[in-house]
Amino acid sequence: TDTIAVLDFGSQYSHLICRRIRDFSVRAELVPYDTPAARLAEMSARGIVLSGGPASVYADGAPRPDPAVFDAGVPILGICYGHQVIVDRFGGTVKRANREYGSSVLSAAGGGGGGGGEGRAGAGLLDGLGGPVRAWMSHGDEAERVPDGFEVIGRTDSAAAAAIADTGRSVYGIQFHPEVAHTEKGDAILRNFAVGICGARQEWTMEAFVDEAVARLSRAGGRVLCGISGGVDSTVAAALLHRAVGDRLVCVFVDNGLLREGERAEVEAALGASGLALPVEYVDASARFLGRLAGVSDPERKRLIIGEEFAAVFAEFAEANGPFRSLAQGTLYPDVIESGVSGGPAAVIKSHHNVGGLPDWLGLDVVEPLRDLYKDEVRRVAGMLGVPDSLAWRHPFPGPGLAVRIIGEVTAEKLAVCRSASRIVEDELRGAGLYGSVWQAYAAVGDDRAVGVVGDERSYGRIVMVRIVDSVDAMTADWTRVPSAVLESISNRITNEVEGAAWVTYAVSSKPPATIEPQ
Ligand code: XMP
Repeated sequence: TDTIAVLDFGSQYSHLICRRIRDFSVRAELVPYDTPAARLAEMSARGIVLSGGPASVYADGAPRPDPAVFDAGVPILGICYGHQVIVDRFGGTVKRANREYGSSVLSAAGGGGGGGGEGRAGAGLLDGLGGPVRAWMSHGDEAERVPDGFEVIGRTDSAAAAAIADTGRSVYGIQFHPEVAHTEKGDAILRNFAVGICGARQEWTMEAFVDEAVARLSRAGGRVLCGISGGVDSTVAAALLHRAVGDRLVCVFVDNGLLREGERAEVEAALGASGLALPVEYVDASARFLGRLAGVSDPERKRLIIGEEFAAVFAEFAEANGPFRSLAQGTLYPDVIESGVSGGPAAVIKSHHNVGGLPDWLGLDVVEPLRDLYKDEVRRVAGMLGVPDSLAWRHPFPGPGLAVRIIGEVTAEKLAVCRSASRIVEDELRGAGLYGSVWQAYAAVGDDRAVGVVGDERSYGRIVMVRIVDSVDAMTADWTRVPSAVLESISNRITNEVEGAAWVTYAVSSKPPATIEPQ
């Protein structure tokens, strides 16, 4: 499949470039910035994007691509840091500038046909802008002198060389970020590059993905064990594998003691009624998970323990019911990126329980059929495979479960508060017809207490934090403007019905700078 390779120089949003490109059915893959040009050719890269990143090109040890990338004969687009890499590589200069974050106004310019081409304003890259557009900037350096052979094809108030091109060599650089939603027509700019300039075919469809995945998965021999939680990711991974390997698949649902109220029964009923005919075994491992978490309050430590315990439970199951060749999980693309295991220099935000945490001693190959997909793509695949809507549209629930919604140590008392309060949040949203329109909704609890007055008595109970967010891909999120009447009944019910809860707060931080789960 024609692919646009995105070299990752460490921006937290590098993967958004892939996301936007895939939206118009061109396959895009994020790879480490120093991926050899030969490897890019093997990937059928029809174009190469150099992402943004935190470094300065003039600093010692600044990350640079394999020099052969510039001779690969495919078009190149540099974004922000990538733009500066291009300026530097072709003999221009980059200087420290005032840090600039946020909106500016971009206009297409040029038309002289730098590099000997015919030329037109925007040189093909900025076609279709239809006048000045808002472009989002986030940089500390800028191009001072444009390299010979390049022309300026776009300007903003602050950056005289906001977009440059050498159409003869098909090398383009833009200082702003077309991948963020704040840039108007950013998707058109990426499409102009991928389809117009690179000529990549728009073949990345979920139908093609399913056919390719089933064919690939069916070639692997041996029996496959698949962890299934009833969430859309693991259910779709299991359904794909079932299609590929039939009765060589066994699914295991692990009750880690950190599930929501009634979760196991609900999942069992939905899977049973689904017609997917997945072979599922249920394992109660709650005592061992909660035992290992006792006394542990550091969030990353909790995540690591849970990852280890999952691995141990799967290993024991495999030993008792084996032999198995591989272990499948519903890992998604953003999980891989945020856990910092993509090979790129992006910072680790959280160690997702199911990525990078599987020890060698497990003795099983890891199969992650959805590792290249985003959540909305997985939901489209769910529809194609007949996964029921009740599972496909459940809110995402993290593998470490309520442990990441309990701030500090996980105790039986905090678990009980978290469970009952979360149930109330979900019920009230369903009652108001809002459950399906929000990304995630839950209650979290920590160790803070506050004074209340109940009847004529003083109480001193937990502060419950309600978090309801809108998101498209979990990479960015905003708090949902829930009608105050709904918040009021959530609060009333929690303080009245949940033993030990005294106050209710509503979390109004977006991601970034916060994250969706508190731990
Ligand atoms: P954060 O809290 O990082 O979460 O904004 C982003 C999305 O990922 C979910 N999440 C996880 N999912 N294993 C998972 O399967 C994990 O360890 C994990 N941690 C967070 C979170 O619920 C949100 O949808």
